Amino acid sequence: MEKTALESNAAAMVAPSKGILAADESSGTIKKRFDKIRLESTFESRRAYRELLFTAPGAEKHISGVILYDETIRQKASDGRPFPELLAARGILPGIKVDAGAKALAGFPGETITEGLDGLRERLAEYRGMGARFAKWRAVIDIGGGIPTGFAIEANAHALARYSALCQEASIVPIVEPEVLMDGDHTIERCEEVTDAALTAVFDALFLHRVHLEGIVLKPNMVIAGKKCAVQAAPQQVADATLRCLRRRVPAAVPGIAFLSGGQSEADATLHLSLMNRGGKLPWQLSFSYGRALQQSTLDAWRGEASNVTAAQKTFLRRARLNGLARSGAYEAAMEQAAA
Ligand code: 13P
Repeated sequence: MEKTALESNAAAMVAPSKGILAADESSGTIKKRFDKIRLESTFESRRAYRELLFTAPGAEKHISGVILYDETIRQKASDGRPFPELLAARGILPGIKVDAGAKALAGFPGETITEGLDGLRERLAEYRGMGARFAKWRAVIDIGGGIPTGFAIEANAHALARYSALCQEASIVPIVEPEVLMDGDHTIERCEEVTDAALTAVFDALFLHRVHLEGIVLKPNMVIAGKKCAVQAAPQQVADATLRCLRRRVPAAVPGIAFLSGGQSEADATLHLSLMNRGGKLPWQLSFSYGRALQQSTLDAWRGEASNVTAAQKTFLRRARLNGLARSGAYEAAMEQAAA
């Protein structure tokens, strides 16, 4: 295992004033996003959209890495350059989603286990040859009546640790993503309790599987009330609860934490990150690895029209810049109103 390469790539992924773009939507998920702008999802429309994101002028100032999907890592820009090569030339690390999705966990109604370990060693070797320097695996923990069970939390932590060990063997930094969903009607207190249990299980498993913590990036949810909860926590409460939970459960050896946005609005995801980064000295870099919270307004500006590409790239750059400011706590909600 090349510890130094893992460590330097992990540090680059969470470098100050930058964050990761999650552009690894599966074909099913990107279709849902395109449906909203009434655009047909085809091999070419998906390619054109990813080219728009990856070639946005100036994005490398705020984007440290991009998570690609299997189809995307094999696609090329209009000038014929493979996407991983194009990104690397801009100083952006290419990454790859390697899990095969969250599937129903047999015997545990309403719960899931993320699949994709079989053959993973061989797939990692192939992706590394294509330029991938980091990978992503997403475990999904839902909150509801009687769930999550301790068993589902453990099973998902075990899979995350097996994936992480295989990544490091292949000199690929694993993004470790245990996502507690914000879809339910649960309170912020319940989210904190479940996030705490999930992170405890994940770090126990990473230790048992001999994962080198200096060479991972953690991608957690923020501690936040469910979308359907009648009582929504104030931004400062989200920041405080999230930091409290992470301080208790994430070892200082981990170089960085890059949040998922999980269905928060673009402005909320940026504000929460900024407030957390104003909270004084932290043991790790506190960054972003947003999908929807970096892309929503860009998709709306683009709508599949070639004539909108320049405007959409400006929109993307603005979102990336605002999140870059949030890395040092310098973002203010009032900046949303300022001209692009
Ligand atoms: P969201 O920021 O849209 O939650 O996506 C991040 C991600 O990669 C989820 O796996």
